[in-house]
Parts: sequence; structure tokens; C-alpha cells
Amino acid sequence: MHSDLRIHHERLAKFVQAIWSHAGSAPREAELVAEHLVQANLAGHDSHGVGMIPRYIASLAEGQLKLNTHVSVIRDAGAVLTLDGGRGFGQVVACEAMAQGLQRAKQFGLAAVGLHNAHHIGRIGHWAEQCGKEGFISFHFVNVMGDPMVAPFGGSDRRFGTNPFCAIFPRKDEKPLLLDFATSAIAYGKTRVAYNKGLTVPPGALIDHQGHPTMQPHVMHEPPFGSLLPFGDHKGYALAALCEILGGALSGGRTTHDETLETDNSAIINGMTTIILNPEAFDAPHMQAEAEAFISWVKKSPPSGNMPIQLPGEWEEANRVDRIANGITVDPMTWRQICHAARLAGMPEEELNAFNALVG
Ligand SMILES: NC(=O)c1ccc[n+]([C@@H]2O[C@H](COP(=O)([O-])OP(=O)(O)OC[C@H]3O[C@@H](n4cnc5c(N)ncnc54)[C@H](O)[C@@H]3O)[C@@H](O)[C@H]2O)c1
Repeated sequence: MHSDLRIHHERLAKFVQAIWSHAGSAPREAELVAEHLVQANLAGHDSHGVGMIPRYIASLAEGQLKLNTHVSVIRDAGAVLTLDGGRGFGQVVACEAMAQGLQRAKQFGLAAVGLHNAHHIGRIGHWAEQCGKEGFISFHFVNVMGDPMVAPFGGSDRRFGTNPFCAIFPRKDEKPLLLDFATSAIAYGKTRVAYNKGLTVPPGALIDHQGHPTMQPHVMHEPPFGSLLPFGDHKGYALAALCEILGGALSGGRTTHDETLETDNSAIINGMTTIILNPEAFDAPHMQAEAEAFISWVKKSPPSGNMPIQLPGEWEEANRVDRIANGITVDPMTWRQICHAARLAGMPEEELNAFNALVG
């Protein structure tokens, strides 16, 4: 197989669900993981889509990822919850954490949820969307514990993770505003996608092991390892530092430092502090109208080039519309890695061949 595959999202989700069922996940877990990964692809974030499966299978084989694990409440302080994810699937424990936080935000007008020790929680926008769908605003500060990849502004080696920040604002009759990005210049997964496709990454995103700028993604995938740079110079670095401390320390978990390094295994451990607000609890009768007035004012700016003026979240929505209609594209290298992972999960060769015959 040498050309890209184009797979209908529902078919791909069924395949991913089958992989996790073979690996030992309960039906609901297999469904949540499949839905999350495929939704990340639909949103255009291939870095956090089905291409993560081989890494999760490796983490499972190393005894790091714990299947069929649910959040435990470490402290219930009413509007503030501290939850331990027990290294369970982030796709399950973050979903449970958001559900508990939403229930408290409905009760109190706002809630804060500290979730620590979760296995990779994937695309953070997914958790904001869980809040947005119920009409709530949310903010998410996330750290990637013990897996440094990003150099501090002014530094030359990796000291912390790609620490994403995310926020959502639901609109009355429109898609929500969704801000969701890694605080590194590009997400680590985007270096994997470029590496697998034999492409370079944009300038300003990477340095090599000696601190020299490079556009070659192999510095993140082959020793000697280089580092990602923070986005926006000192500003992105400052936000990353706050994500580390709010996501890692305030959530009841740990930050990245010499005692917590986990560079010898495949686990990705996230901590996330989420603030959920009920907009109805504010005395802001013009909130939606003011938001819409601002949006149309901004959109009237004369374009500086060929690019349209977009709102946060519009890029993902456009991808979703396109990919639901035309399928999700998977490059051959990534597909080979996923098929190998499916075999390791215990999928029989006939089942894998039957799927490949459908999509190949
Ligand atoms: N779980 C983890 O440990 C982890 C770590 C890092 C990143 N991530 C996830 O990786 C994904 C990718 O992150 P990224 O940094 O590559 O994202 P990105 O650079 O693609 O930026 C995405 C954000 O920019 C907005 N955007 C894009 N084009 C725009 C435009 N023209 N105008 C206005 N807004 C625009 C999008 O709507 C979105 O909010 C995210 O979903 C993030 O949550 C997860």
C-alpha cells in the first residue's frame, strides 16, 4: 500500500473500537477511545487522532496504561473536585471528570476540577466541547508530566511538555468559539506526522541537540534528540509554565523535574485543571449580542492576503465538514503502524485483512 487511504469516519471508529476490545477494554471504553481519536482526525488534528494507537498499545504492553480504570475522588470540596485518573485511558477519565465538573457547575454556577495521573487525554478541545455542548464556558490548563520536549525561552534543551491551553465560549445559534493549542510552536504529534510523511516542519518550531534551529522532524524521533520551541517567544513560554503548574501541581499531580522524568517508557501522563462557568450565573444579558457584535466587527477587517479571517474553532469545523463528507486520510506509514498495533492488541489476521480489503 503506497498511497494515502481515505476512510469513512464511522468505519474507522468501528475498527478502532475493535482494536481496544481485542486489547481488553470494556465496550464503553473502546467506544469512548474510538470516538475521541476519530473526532480528533475529523477536527483536522491528525497528531491526536488514530495515529496515537501504536503509542497507546506500547504503553499498555509496558504496564503503564491501565485499561478499564475510572476516576477516584481524592477530595470533594463542593465546587472544587480533585480527581485521580489512575493512569486510566484519558479518553475515559477526562470524560468522567468533565461530567462530574458539569454537575457541580450546574449546582454552584462554577466548578474547578483537578484531574491528575491520567493517561494521555488527547485533544483537549474534546473536553471543552463536552462543556460547551451543555452551554458552559470552560478553561483547561494541561501539563504532560515527566516527558520534556520543549525548551524554555532562552534555553537550549527540553525541560517541559507541549502543555496545551484550551477555552470554549458557546454561542447561541452558531458553533462555539474554541481555542485549543499546544504551547509549543507545533504539537509533538505534528512532528510525527511530518516525520512519517518525509516532510519538514515550519521554521521556528525546532532546535537540534546543540540548540541550533532546524526544520527536520527527525530531531524529535531519533537520537541525539533536539527540542521543540515554545510558540510566541517569551509569551508562549510563560503560558506553558503556568499550564505546567496549574495543570500539574494544582490538580494534585506532579510537575516535570528531575524526580518525575518518565523518558524510558511510552506513557503520556497528563494533569489538567479545568474551570467550568455557567454563563447564566452572570448578570450579563447582552453577553451573546456583545460577542456577536465583536465577531462581525473583527470579520469586517479587510483581508491582508488570500486567507479568510477565521474565528477560533472555525478551522476545526471546516475540517469536520470536509472529512465527514470525504473521509479521513491516513498516510501509508501511519496505517502500517496502526495495523501492527492492531495485531499486537490481538486482532486476528482475517479480521484485519477483511478491514484492509474494505479500505485499501
Ligand atoms: N494531551 C496532550 O498532552 C496534548 C499536548 C499538546 C497538544 N495537544 C492537542 O494537540 C492539538 C493540536 O494542537 P496545535 O498546537 O497543533 O494546534 P494548532 O496550532 O492547529 O492551533 C489550533 C487552534 O488555533 C485555531 N486556529 C487555527 N487557525 C486559525 C485562524 N486562521 N484564525 C483563528 N484561529 C485559528 C484553532 O481553531 C484552534 O483553536 C490540540 O487539540 C491540543 O489540545 C494535546
